[in-house]
Amino acid sequence: MTLQNDLIIRAAKRLPTERTPIWIMRQAGRYLAEYRAVRAKHDFLTMCKTPELAAEVTIQPIDIIGVDAAIIFSDILVIPEAMGMHLEINEGKGPVFTSPIKSKDDVNKLKDPDPLKDLKYVLDAISLTKKELNGRVPVIGFAGAPWTILTYMVEGQGSKSFSKVKKLIYGNPELAHNLLEKITNATAAYLSAQIEAGANLVQIFDTWAGILSPRDYQVFALRYVYQLIKEIKRKGEPVIYFPKGVHYLFHELKNCGADAISVDWTLELTKVRRKIGEKVAIQGNLDPTVLYADPNFIKREARKVLESFGKGHGHIFNLGHGILPDINPENVKALVNYVKEESKSFHH
Ligand code: CP3
Repeated sequence: MTLQNDLIIRAAKRLPTERTPIWIMRQAGRYLAEYRAVRAKHDFLTMCKTPELAAEVTIQPIDIIGVDAAIIFSDILVIPEAMGMHLEINEGKGPVFTSPIKSKDDVNKLKDPDPLKDLKYVLDAISLTKKELNGRVPVIGFAGAPWTILTYMVEGQGSKSFSKVKKLIYGNPELAHNLLEKITNATAAYLSAQIEAGANLVQIFDTWAGILSPRDYQVFALRYVYQLIKEIKRKGEPVIYFPKGVHYLFHELKNCGADAISVDWTLELTKVRRKIGEKVAIQGNLDPTVLYADPNFIKREARKVLESFGKGHGHIFNLGHGILPDINPENVKALVNYVKEESKSFHH
C-alpha cells in the first residue's frame, strides 16, 4: 500500500521534504480524554494485548492532533514479559517486575521468545492499524534498547540511584553481558517481526542511556545497539535511536547503523547537526514542559528548534522526551499546526 504521507520516512533518510514532519513521543496516552475514556474500561496491559483497542488509541492522535506518524500502542516492557518475567502495571506507580533478575539462575530461566507466538498481539495490532489507517501516515514500531531493558529487569522498576543494575555491571559484568546478549537477540527478532507485520520504521528507546559514564555507555549500551541494528531484518525501513541524556561519543553514535538519532532538549541541534548531520537525520528536541505554556510561547520555542536545526532536510520534529499526562491537547495541536506551516520556509 502506498503511503499518502511519507514525510517521516524521507526525513529519516535525509531526502528532500516540503516541510518538517512532526510526531510526539508517547502521543497515544493519558493527556487525551479519548484515551482516558478507553482506559477507564480496560487496564493498560489488556489494551496492549487487544489489537482492536491498541489500534483505536494508536490512531487517536492522528485524527485529533494531526501528527505525521502513528506509533503503535504498546510498551517497551513487553519483551521481558515475553521472556518469562511477570509484569504488573500498578495504578499511579508505573510498571513493576515482581521478581527482578538477581542471579545467574534467573538469567538461565529466561526464554528466547518467538515474536510470532509470544508477541503476536503486537504484530496483530500493527496489521490492524495499517489496515485502518489505509496509508494516511506511516506506522512506527518500537522496542527498548538492550541497556534500558536490562535496567528494568534488574531494578524491577524505575529508580533514582540505579544501585541494583550498577552492582550487577560492576560486580558481575559477565552475567550482565550474558543478559544483554539475550535481550539483544530477542529484540532483533521482535523488531524484524514488527517490520514484517507492516511497521514502516522503528524507534529504539534508550531511556536510561544517560545514567552511565561515557565508557560504560559504550561497553554496556551502545555496543549492543550496534549489534541490534545490524540484526534487524529490513528493506529500507528507517531506524531511529533515542539515547536519552547522552552528550558524548557523537562519532560512535552516528555510525551505530541508525538512520536518525533522537536527542533531548539539553542539546543544541545546530551543534548536533554539525557533528553528525552528514551521516544521520536528527529528531527532536522541544522540552516537553514547554507545552505547559500558552500557545504563543510554545510557537516561539518551536521556532527556536526549527532555527537551531536550520535550513535543509533531515530533521524530524519531536519533543526531547515523552509528552506528560497533564498537558492540554489544544497546546499540542497548536504546536503541530505551527510546525507544519512554519517549517515550509526551511525547505526551499
Ligand atoms: O509513544 C506512544 O504513544 C506509544 C506507546 C508507548 C507507551 N510506552 C505507552 C504507555 C511507548 C512508546 C512507551 C515506551 C516506554 N515505556 C518507555 C520508553 C520511552 C520513555 O518515555 O522513556 C518506557 C521507559 C516505558 C516504561 C513505562 N511504561 C513507564 C515508566 C510507565 C509508567 C509511567 C507512565 O508514563 O505512566 C509505563 C506505562 C505506560 N506506557 C502508559 C502508556 C500510555 C501509561 C499507562 C496508563 O494508561 O496508565
